This record gives sequence, C-alpha cells and structure tokens, in this order.
Amino acid sequence: MFYFKYILLGVGISVCKVALIQQSRFPCLLVSRYCQAELFTFLCIYLCFYSFLLVCLFSYFSGHTGHTIDMNTFLDDPEFAEIIMRAEQAIECGVLPERISQGSSGSYFVKDSKGKTIGVFKPKSEEPYGHLNPKWTKYFHKICCPCCFGRGCLVPNQGYLSEAGAYLVDDKLGLGVVPKTKVVWLVSETFNYSAIDRAKSRGKKYALEKVPKVAKKFNRIGLPPKVGSFQLFVEGYKEADYWLRKFETDPLPENTRKEFQSQFERLVILDYVIRNTDRGNDNWLVRYEKQDDGLNLSDKDIQWAVSEESTIKIAAIDNGLAFPFKHPDEWRAYPFHWAWLSQAQVPFSQETRDLVLPRISDMNFVQDLCEDLYELFKTDKGFDKATFENQMSVMRGQILNLTQALKDGKSPMQLVQMPRVIVERSSTGSQGRIVHLSNAFTQTFHSRKPFFSSW
Ligand SMILES: Nc1ncnc2c1ncn2[C@@H]1O[C@H](COP(=O)(O)OP(=O)(O)O)[C@@H](O)[C@H]1O
Ligand SMILES: [Mg+2]
Repeated sequence: MFYFKYILLGVGISVCKVALIQQSRFPCLLVSRYCQAELFTFLCIYLCFYSFLLVCLFSYFSGHTGHTIDMNTFLDDPEFAEIIMRAEQAIECGVLPERISQGSSGSYFVKDSKGKTIGVFKPKSEEPYGHLNPKWTKYFHKICCPCCFGRGCLVPNQGYLSEAGAYLVDDKLGLGVVPKTKVVWLVSETFNYSAIDRAKSRGKKYALEKVPKVAKKFNRIGLPPKVGSFQLFVEGYKEADYWLRKFETDPLPENTRKEFQSQFERLVILDYVIRNTDRGNDNWLVRYEKQDDGLNLSDKDIQWAVSEESTIKIAAIDNGLAFPFKHPDEWRAYPFHWAWLSQAQVPFSQETRDLVLPRISDMNFVQDLCEDLYELFKTDKGFDKATFENQMSVMRGQILNLTQALKDGKSPMQLVQMPRVIVERSSTGSQGRIVHLSNAFTQTFHSRKPFFSSW
C-alpha cells in the first residue's frame, strides 16, 4: 500500500511531462513559459489528488473481512475452538461484547448468542498503555508521570501474552487455578476503534448498500479484528476479599479449609513463578458452596463429598502484569498481597510439594516451559529475543528459589523473603536443549532492593 501511493504519484508526474512535451507538436497548445509552469503545477496537483482518492478507495476495500473465523485455529483444542466459534457467531448475530466498567483498561465480557457470558477478552490495543486504551487517566499517566505509574520491569503492551503465558505455566505445572486463556482475534463494534477505522468501516458499508455488485467483489469489509487474550468465564465466583472476610468470622469446616489451603498454595506457586506484579486480593476469585451445617456426615460420606466435587475453588484471573524482564528495583516492590494472609504463614503441604517438586527440579522440564513460552511470545510484533531471554532469566531464578523452599519445607511468606536471583543462559555454556543443562546457566543474586519494601 505504501509503495502503491508512490507508484501512482510517479505515473502522474510522467503523464504531466508527456503532456507538456506534446505541446510543441500541436501549436494550438503552445502557451507562454509561465503558463506552462502553471499548467504543470495544476496537473501535478490534480493527479496527486486523483491518486489519493484511488488510494483511499483501495484502502477501503483492502481492510479486513470483519470475520475472524480463519484467524482463530485451535486444532489441538476443539473444545476451546467451539467456544470461540460461539462467540464469533454471537457477534455476527448482534450479541456484542460488553466493556467491563471496572479495571484499568479495555476488557470485555464476551457472550454466546443467548447472551450468556462465556469469556473475558482483553485486546492488546486497549491495554493500559495500548494506543486505544479507553481510559484517559492511563494516557495521562503515560504522558505526565510514567515512572510513578508504569511498571518499569515489564515489557509494555504485552499484557495479553502475559495472560496466555500464565495459563500455559499453570497448565504445565498442573496447578489448575487459571481459567483457560489463549490468544484470540475478535472484532466488534463495541471495541474501542480510532475515528479513521470507524470512518473506513462506514464507507465500506455504504458502498455495500449503494453498489452491492461491486462491493461484494471485495469480500474484505468491516472493522479490523483485534488480537488479545480470551479467558474462559468462570461462574459462581466472588472476589477473594469478600470470602476472606467471611472466613474470619465464619471459619471453614476442616475438610474445606484443607482444600482451600491446597488451592491457595497453587495460586502462590503460579504467582511466584511468573513473578506477578498485580496480585491484589481483587485479582483472584473464590467459589464456595457452603454445605448444609445440619447434616451429620459419616466419614464415608465426607470422603465422597470431597472426591465428588470440591466445594471450594480458586480462580487466578487478571494475570496481565507478570513475566518481568528484571526484578522490581524501583520505587515500588509490587508485593504479593497474599503474603500477609494466615494461609501464607504455614509450610507448603506435602500434597503441593509432591505435585510441583518433581517437575520444577527437572531442568529439562524448565527448558521445555521456556521453549513453549518462546513459541507464544514470539508471535507479538514487538517481540525482542534479548528481552525474552531476560524474562526467562527472572523466571528461572524464581523456580530455583521455589525448588529450594519446597525442599526446605518453607512457608509462602518465607519464600517471598528469599534473596532474589536470576539464572541466565551462560554465554560460554552450550545453547539449546542438552543433557547437562546445569553447565549452561549462571546464577546471580539480585541485591538492589525496592525503595518501598516490606521484606
Ligand atoms: N475469567 C473470569 N471469570 C469470571 N469473572 C471474571 C473473569 N475475569 C474477570 N472477571 C471479572 O471482571 C472483573 C475485571 O477483570 P480483570 O481481569 O480484573 O480486569 P482488569 O484488568 O480490567 O482489572 C473482575 O473483577 C471479575 O469480577
Ligand atoms: Mg483486575
């Protein structure tokens, strides 16, 4: 498209020149030198204008189809593919995603054609520092005081990858606390678009109505699809803050308390590995179905009730501010807010240790995890290999600490107090996946502490 404009301009100027040369052959066209220059300028302007019009027309019809079906392929996950198809069909039928009013960016509840919410979509372009963020306060922060509000340790505008990456880590570690999240393309009138995109789309629709025969030939009509993270919507959950207050006054029965503790430890592991910088108690949800107090369950019944389906479950949502490329060392420490809870003061349970330790103490597993994240992160147009390597160095350091903490029987609170470490790929060591991975990395302790730090 870029070159097309210049080709047209070139052709225009050549035509002008030929026209002026031809004047000498036809004396009736002979005019003074002054008029020749005038005529030349006029022809140039005319042709520029004409080519500009052509370019506009061309770009009207060379946008996007407004359909995303061919952009979303999940061959390895037909269930997820089916959910995305339902979302696309709903949008086609006019059941449009709805912006979530709270929150710092453009996040949307996506529905099926019956209006039931099935997912949460967060487009890259509407992230806190994305160019189409609908909240003007973030724009103000970015322009006026980025050091106080921004997170200098995070790769900007890749929150959607962090969301999908958190699910990848959760899935690989077998934690099961992050609702399924993948990178998806969607298009909807309710998303935030620039005035130019909207004008283009209106023009295309107008053309379709007025000259359907011509417009139908251009099957590329509509607003441009947006890439973002799509997380499955979990039903029956409330913010953790709400339940934590309740549990203080109305303690959980012993079985449920244990189940909650186990779920909580999984959340801790996820956050620690991905070094989440935004885990307030509003960014994890809890579903709790209180069992009837009057029931006097026998041991057998209790066992059945627990194995049938647990009554308490945690969902770790809003994972868009994780995977830093360096440990926070500026004004703010971005602590894990769960560290002050009573659940964080007891050592990790044997169940959690048995689940996680065999995986994270295997260097091939860690290498695999890094490679899977690479496949995901490299799809972003702003991907930078060196920055990604730094992100992985931080993550490997977190994994190293976590392994030690689990082996030593530490609590989550003790874990977050451990000295921060980065494990870098050694420049002299062998690259890639090899048997003696231990020779390929060097570890460094990170001594710079955040100005405001509670540990
Ligand atoms: N997967 C989900 N399932 C159910 N509700 C969700 C889910 N994700 C987000 N929400 C709801 O939407 C709200 C805002 O989502 P969040 O991911 O925190 O967005 P933001 O990045 O704007 O803070 C949450 O407080 C929660 O109530
Ligand atoms: Mg949030």
